[in-house]
Amino acid sequence: MRRLLFIFSLLLLHQGVADAQTKDLPMAKLIDEQFKFAGQQYKVLAGNVPTDQMPKTFYPQTGKSENSNTGWWCSGFFPGSLLYIYEYTKDADALKEAKARLAILEKEKLNKGTHDLGFMMYCSFGNAYRLFKDPAYKAIIDESAASLSTRYHPGAKVIQSWNSSKAWAGPVIIDNMMNLELLGWVTDQGGDKKYKEIAVNHANSTIKNHFRSDFSSYHVLDYDMKTGDVLQKKTAQGAADSSAWARGQAWGLYGFTVMYRMTKDKQYLEQAKKIAAFMLNDKNMPADLIPYWDYDAPGIPDTYRDASAGAIMASALLELAQYADKKERRRYLDVAEKVIRVLSSDAYRAKLGENGGFLLLHSVGSLPHKSEVDVPLTYADYYFLEALLRYKNWYL
Ligand code: GLY
Repeated sequence: MRRLLFIFSLLLLHQGVADAQTKDLPMAKLIDEQFKFAGQQYKVLAGNVPTDQMPKTFYPQTGKSENSNTGWWCSGFFPGSLLYIYEYTKDADALKEAKARLAILEKEKLNKGTHDLGFMMYCSFGNAYRLFKDPAYKAIIDESAASLSTRYHPGAKVIQSWNSSKAWAGPVIIDNMMNLELLGWVTDQGGDKKYKEIAVNHANSTIKNHFRSDFSSYHVLDYDMKTGDVLQKKTAQGAADSSAWARGQAWGLYGFTVMYRMTKDKQYLEQAKKIAAFMLNDKNMPADLIPYWDYDAPGIPDTYRDASAGAIMASALLELAQYADKKERRRYLDVAEKVIRVLSSDAYRAKLGENGGFLLLHSVGSLPHKSEVDVPLTYADYYFLEALLRYKNWYL
């Protein structure tokens, strides 16, 4: 009852914010409103998640929240988002909640059963170290890199995604580009050189094998891990093996932009620009620039959007714009700004106290698995907040 009253009073206090038209708001004001909203809304989210778990999603049809243990690939996004909120608002409650969630996440530094340690440990502890420079956080990131590197195969020069099974000899998904930043960071901070070499080798194998001639990417490549031969080119979360799964394209864009930042190797910059061109010129990119869940989804325009793909794309383009020439820079910034405005509008952003406490509506986890369809997701919120902060820090 006390929680309901709390939510109700917040609703009254902030009812004007969610109703605001975002289209013509100055970006500084829009960003300020989004962070104030996020600070309040994430108190609601925190209240829905037991202290030993992490949020996963919320089903509007049933009103049920779904949480996860810390071994789930998304476990770093909640503490990471709380840190972004703290960074902007300086709200001590957000920081306290972030630190409590980091404490339960720490044990995953020893998890060698996942390729997603970059998401899990860098979006969380990476931000914590960036903000506070606590050597304990750095030690956790260092250990995470050691764990992640055990999944590297020097024969094929890739980090294995899922474990081998009847279906897959050595699967590698495009998403794995997102786990390279953790490795490069550890080397750049004085750690073992091998981590960045692994990141570079994985990125090079991905450029060589994962892309089609139009610079869209396959989702899953199956490697012979000894020879590097590609055995299969498939999808798991996309509409078809030959389709362009929207979030996968966004992971690739973000991942190659980061690889360029970390190495200054022009091939990564060119790859990121070509991926951006594929997305932005695709005939199925909607006018509001929030992609359908797959660029080749059956039934377009009568199918689901993926707000997470839009948020990741916006955050990545804000960084890519820094490395682009004048004309490309303007295009990337215009797209990113539009996506931020659209995601901040009532069409995609939840109202206070609703949506299980998540910020954004309308993401898709895996449509082929009928899992997390048209729901909020932690990573949509995380990259939305990151895009807001990047815009503020770099372009205001
Ligand atoms: N890495 C899993 C996903 O993007 O759904």
